[in-house]
Amino acid sequence: MPISLQTLNTLGLTAWADALIGVSNSTELPAISQSLEEKDRFILGGGSNVVLHASQEAPLALTCVQSQLKGIVRLPAREGLSRLRCASGETWHDFVMWTLANGLGGLENLALIPGTVGAAPIQNIGAYGVEVCERIEAVHAWDFERHDHVVFPAESCQFGYRHSLFKELSFQGPWNRPRFFITAVDFVLSPATKSSPVLSYKGLSERLTELGVTEPPMPMQVAHAVISLRKEKLPDPSEVGNVGSFFKNPVVDEELARALASQNPGLPVFQQNNQTKLSAGWLIESAGMKGVQRGQVAVSANHALVLTNLGAATARDVLGLAHEIQEAVMARFGLWLEPEPQIIPPL
Ligand code: EPU
Repeated sequence: MPISLQTLNTLGLTAWADALIGVSNSTELPAISQSLEEKDRFILGGGSNVVLHASQEAPLALTCVQSQLKGIVRLPAREGLSRLRCASGETWHDFVMWTLANGLGGLENLALIPGTVGAAPIQNIGAYGVEVCERIEAVHAWDFERHDHVVFPAESCQFGYRHSLFKELSFQGPWNRPRFFITAVDFVLSPATKSSPVLSYKGLSERLTELGVTEPPMPMQVAHAVISLRKEKLPDPSEVGNVGSFFKNPVVDEELARALASQNPGLPVFQQNNQTKLSAGWLIESAGMKGVQRGQVAVSANHALVLTNLGAATARDVLGLAHEIQEAVMARFGLWLEPEPQIIPPL
């Protein structure tokens, strides 16, 4: 009997797969690994960065594997910094709040991002001027090829903007034979009293002032400001199906950015990690697509980067509107937007 994945993806799309395995203890991994040898599989995290499409009649012919590994362990401190190991099945936002409640700073700008701890390094989640790779020391994974545990120091993870080695191997190799299953992530965090807040992102300092916080803010206060900004702009996936930003901000060379900015006054151009990025939200809005509705899918009227499921959307509706946005932005600006979520199966 096919298994429904509808409650396991935050867009709330109807999708089906042959089988689903939850890993609740890492001691189960050798047996699971043997059972999946030469079998197609897909590793599902919190389902907040996927567009799944497969009907009940033609389900995904694979086994979905989902981490239910739990636990946060303190590792020996080093050079005045705290080190934590968090299991991959923990909910990302709960982990962030745990670190803050335990007097640790460093993850506050990443509060309220949906998904699991194990998925965070895969696409190197980022928000409000911080990328998770800046706080990661190592990623622990199970290697389905060697049937063994493996540790990736952060330097070897090839972290980039919404990118990592894990994304490369899982999705740019055969998409249905991901090699690594992330079991835990090690973080390095500062004591809250010594943490340096990152407040450079537009609107964050202003929000702290509106909340009555006098600088320098404590990490928990920064988290509250981030949470209030996110709640204002981004729909809560438990209420309205969505996957956050549907497109990546285009990374372009500086010359093109300058040319586009001079032709299009107001186009936000920003530098991050030596890259020049344009605001996809602004491009979509300027191409006239903000708030557009097609069937059961809409471009959010609050944030043009977010596509929302109005209740009964199908993957075809979502991908159709996404394509229409890509065409509109291409026609207006000559840029092709790249989707941020993984489309499974790939088109
Ligand atoms: N903008 C518009 N119209 C819109 C939306 C945005 O003109 O409808 C312009 C505004 O000028 C705004 C600028 O775009 O000032 C930037 O918008 P925002 O601060 O919301 O950030 P973003 O670049 O659109 C990125 C991440 C978000 C992250 C925010 C905050 C990507 C693809 N998205 O969005 O990440 O929360 O910054 O740091 O990098 C996600 O990945 O799912 C996600 C939500």
